[in-house]
Parts: sequence; structure tokens; C-alpha cells
Amino acid sequence: MDVETLLHMKGGLGETSYARNSSIQKKFTDGVKHVVIDAAIDAYLSETPRCFRMADLGCSSGANALSLIGDIVNAIDERCNEKTRQVPQFMVFLNDLPGNDFNSVFISFSDFGSRLKNIRRRDEFHSVFMAAVPGSFYGRLFPSNSLHFIHSCHSLHWLSQVPPGIFNEEGKSMNSRKIYISKTSPPAIAKAYQQQFQKDFGSFLKSRSEELVSEGRMALIMSGRDAKEPCNKMTTLLWELLARSLSIMVAQGEIEGEDLELYNAPFYAPSLREIEDEVVREGSFTVEDLKIFKDKVGSGDAKKDGAALAMAIRAIQESMLCHHIGREAIDRLFHIYSELLSEVMQQEEIMAVYAIVVLRRSLRVRKH
Ligand SMILES: C[S@@+](CC[C@H](N)C(=O)[O-])C[C@H]1O[C@@H](n2cnc3c(N)ncnc32)[C@H](O)[C@@H]1O
Repeated sequence: MDVETLLHMKGGLGETSYARNSSIQKKFTDGVKHVVIDAAIDAYLSETPRCFRMADLGCSSGANALSLIGDIVNAIDERCNEKTRQVPQFMVFLNDLPGNDFNSVFISFSDFGSRLKNIRRRDEFHSVFMAAVPGSFYGRLFPSNSLHFIHSCHSLHWLSQVPPGIFNEEGKSMNSRKIYISKTSPPAIAKAYQQQFQKDFGSFLKSRSEELVSEGRMALIMSGRDAKEPCNKMTTLLWELLARSLSIMVAQGEIEGEDLELYNAPFYAPSLREIEDEVVREGSFTVEDLKIFKDKVGSGDAKKDGAALAMAIRAIQESMLCHHIGREAIDRLFHIYSELLSEVMQQEEIMAVYAIVVLRRSLRVRKH
């Protein structure tokens, strides 16, 4: 499966689109956005450039893409006013994979202007410029030393590929009937996922270290885990239930067993230790902040919450699952998934676990 071609959130503004099913991500980002905003202010204050250049990596489509950017612009604007300093111009780059629906982000650009209170009042709205940069954040996206600040929310847990180590010599998955690390997975599966994360996150850091100016900052929010072992219920439960939904469809003859054997999620929720180890190994950044943030998913109404969570996962997974089981099976799959989620949510709380990472580009001489 070519992940970078197939992985994209459901575009447009339809019922199953990411734009209409990303309130869960928004709620978590809102809970920790002060960390991202403070990192952006620090990046600005280290250099006080006339044009502050920043990028959102994995911006997707819908309101989330511009919401945090508006907050960052407003916060830097306020800081400049307090210090009676001239507000910088802002050059904002929105990055995602080429299949992303960039159009719907651009359509919301005029609403975005109305959120920039201070800048608008002074009729300086034109000082925020925006451009899209399609491509994988596991490679280079920008010229050397060209950015002051980078942030990425809910994106870096997506790997560049399904780890090759989960397949045996005949190309068959060794993760029988599972789609992510599970209690019944052989140890080689967790190892393969860990190694793929190390390789990908290392490439990400190396590319960003070239692109950020000295003292540039980076704030990352991604799925994470606070347990040492990769097979941790909080981070595997949603995949277990999706695998169970697929198994039900296989048992009922609605999809082929082979479809399930072939699909594995290109996802990994790292521990803080794994993140830190890779930052230290790569060597271009200093960790300024690194923590886990947990929050309950849902409102307490299990039926509604199960349906909403199923729609949120559908907006993210539909493009890849369609490739494996066919478009006609998708409605049924997510109907089963929604029921399983509601059953679980009736009995227990589902928690979302995120890692929050703030990195500063080190001043020391770079190795590469
Ligand atoms: C769940 S969405 C997050 C969107 C948005 N940042 C938010 O907070 O709601 C994850 C996004 O990451 C993008 N993504 C995944 N892997 C990527 C890669 N290698 N390069 C660029 N974008 C990637 C996906 O296409 C998707 O749009």
C-alpha cells in the first residue's frame, strides 16, 4: 500500500468529511494550544523578524487548518502591541500530502481574516500571506534556514509506510487478523512499528533542522502513550475494535478474509522516551517541553459518542480502507464499528492520549 498516495482525510464539506468530523481533534488542540502559542512567541522574540515565516505540517482541510494559525498571529500581534513594536508580516505555509483538499482551506481564508481582530482593526489584514506546500513531511519541504516556527497537530503519528517488518518472506502479514499492535501480536510486530517510527521521526527531524533558522521552534501534538510497552490498551483500543468490525464482516461473508490480512494501520503512538531518544540521536534540537496530555472522549451519551467517534475515525481511515475492502463495504463497516464503540463507551471511558513536544533548533554546529 502506497501510504503517501492513499492517506488523506475525507475532503469537501459532506457528512463524512474531515471538515465536519474533526471536532475531537479541535477540542484536544484547544486544551493545549497555549503551549504551541508560547513556542511561536518564543520563536518570534528570538529573532523579531520583519516577516515571521511559519508552517503547519499536516494541515488537512476544515476549520482546524486555520484556527491555530489565527491564534498565533493574534498572540504575536498582542505581544508586539505591549512592547510598542511594529507587528511583523506573516508568511504561513500550509503543508499536507498532495491528495489533501487544499481548496476547501483556501475557501475559508476570508472567514479567517475576520478572526484577526487587532490586525484587521488597523486595516493591516494584508500582512498575513498564505501558500500551500504539498508533499510528505518525511522529506524536505522548504529551503534551508527559511522558517522561524513549525507546528504540527494530530499528524505525526502517521507513518510513511506500513512497517515492512510485519510481513514474512512470502509477503504475508504476521499480525494475523489484527490491524495494529495487539495483545495477540507476535513481538516482531511491535518491534517493526517502533523501528518504522524511529526511521520516520528521524527523517522528519533532519529535514526540519535544515529548514528552521537557528533558535527556531517547533511544537508538535501527536498521539502518544504514557506506558513503556507499545501494546497499551489506551492507544490500541480503537484499532482493536476496527479489526473486530472487519472480522465480523469476514464472518458474515461481506468481505474476504484476505482483505483483513492485507490491511495494517500506518500509525504509531510513541512514548515520551521514544520521542526523546530520537531527538537526542538526531542531535539538532533541544527539548524545551515534552509531556503527555490525556482527555476523555465523548459527552457521556454512549450511543451518540460512539457514532461521533466512528465518524471521526471514518473521515481519517476511509481513503485507505476503501482501497482494501471496496467503497461499497464502508457504510456497513462503520455502522458495526459505531455499535461496538457505543457498547464499550457504555461500560468505560475512552481516553485520548497525546504527546506534546516543543523543540528548539540547537545553536551548536550541526553534524550534517
Ligand atoms: C488527522 S489530520 C490532522 C489535521 C489538522 N492538523 C488538525 O489538527 O485537525 C492528519 C493530517 O496529516 C496528514 N499527513 C499524514 N502523513 C503526512 C505526511 N507524511 N506528510 C504530510 N502530511 C501528512 C494527513 O494527510 C492528514 O491531513
